[in-house]
Amino acid sequence: MNIRIFDTPHEAGVYAAALAEHIIKNRPKPVLGLATGATPIHFYQALVRLHQYGLDLSRVTTINLDEYIGLGPSHEQSYSYFMQKHLFDHTNILPDHIHLPNGIATNLEMECNRYDGIIQKNPIHFQLLGIGVNGHIGFNEPDDLLQSKTHVVRLQLETVKSNARFFNQIEEVPKKAITLGVQAILQSEQIVLMAFGPEKANIVAKSVLGNVRTDVPASILQLHKQVTVVLDRESAKQLV
Ligand code: F6R
Repeated sequence: MNIRIFDTPHEAGVYAAALAEHIIKNRPKPVLGLATGATPIHFYQALVRLHQYGLDLSRVTTINLDEYIGLGPSHEQSYSYFMQKHLFDHTNILPDHIHLPNGIATNLEMECNRYDGIIQKNPIHFQLLGIGVNGHIGFNEPDDLLQSKTHVVRLQLETVKSNARFFNQIEEVPKKAITLGVQAILQSEQIVLMAFGPEKANIVAKSVLGNVRTDVPASILQLHKQVTVVLDRESAKQLV
């Protein structure tokens, strides 16, 4: 794993966006796997800035990692809404090229299969990841096994509590989500895992330095050949 430590999340976001820019410029049909949450906001700001300075995103396809079950795209806490607000509204990514799981699909099993089909047709070149305080990537939660394919997951209490910061009250946080499985993540050509702040320091150290374990899902990234871990000083402090 290639580890890069920056003074600020802003600098880290600029660096990660430059890695994506390289893929976008050098691939005829670049496919970006994207994450939501607090961490990637710096990345999206930097990517929007690159677009404002001329980076063309019209050839880009995007595939998001996950979506809450029960929240439609007009819900302010849906990941679809997040992506519009932080990236799609400010760039020339074509609506047809944007993919997120549909959290309000009537048949969730069919929706998972549909999503796997999209990933098969559009192998991911650049996968952006955040990490949960419990080590989840996407919403692949710590467990006895990690699921390969796109699936419905019951969110762990720790995840619900952590995500309550985005809602008015914890009761509003959806308890289930659709997430990409670990196969799609590990098959992507390049992975950039970002983490900021002291609350991520312990799980970052476990994921990067510890054994590969299903109860630390991010540790599975040690098995991938091209992973860059992009940190600020706070999240990196247990690595030394
Ligand atoms: C979001 C996702 C999650 C987050 C993780 C960290 O699409 O897949 O794995 O990356 O929960 O969230 P933040 O960045 O809000 O700490």
